[in-house]
Amino acid sequence: MAETPHLGKPLDEAAIANWDISILPDGTGLPKAAARPRGAVIFAEKCSACHGDNAKGGVAVALVNDRKLDGISASQKTIKNFWPYATTIFDFIRSAMPFTASRSLSDDEVYALTAYILAENKLIDAKDTINAETLPKVKMPNRDNFIIRFPDRI
Ligand code: HEC
Repeated sequence: MAETPHLGKPLDEAAIANWDISILPDGTGLPKAAARPRGAVIFAEKCSACHGDNAKGGVAVALVNDRKLDGISASQKTIKNFWPYATTIFDFIRSAMPFTASRSLSDDEVYALTAYILAENKLIDAKDTINAETLPKVKMPNRDNFIIRFPDRI
């Protein structure tokens, strides 16, 4: 083994698992869901201060929006008109939100928030159950407008 600078300390499996949280487009990495709390309630408590009432936009971007994509600037892009995979919503919320307290949500809360955002965008029915099996099957409107460089890897 190459000589290293001998900085840091070796991590055990449990410590690595805590960081190994990426979710692939096909749902690989999605955790099991248990009881589903209500997304709307969690959203009002933990998200709407920035994303606005009912996720329609505030100091941070709207997560529920019917804007059409007619340009390439970042401000045009929304979850509904741009994001190709529903699994990314779960991945992004779990690792990055709420902005000031990332990684503070339980997996069940993240599922509930993901379902809430999908339902408010009318991409699923509000009664639908979102879990590791169903989330990868949600077809996002812009799904087929991407050229996948390595299709067999996802
Ligand atoms: C303190 C303000 C704040 C709070 C609270 C907050 N967010 Fe965010 N959120 C942001 C900002 C700022 C961005 C843009 C971050 C970036 O692009 O890196 C963002 C981006 C997002 C995005 C990506 C949207 C897109 O179109 O790119 C999602 C999804 C999201 N937030 C969900 C949530 C959820 C769910 C909650 C509640 C658990 C939450 N946020 C709470 C500030 C906040």
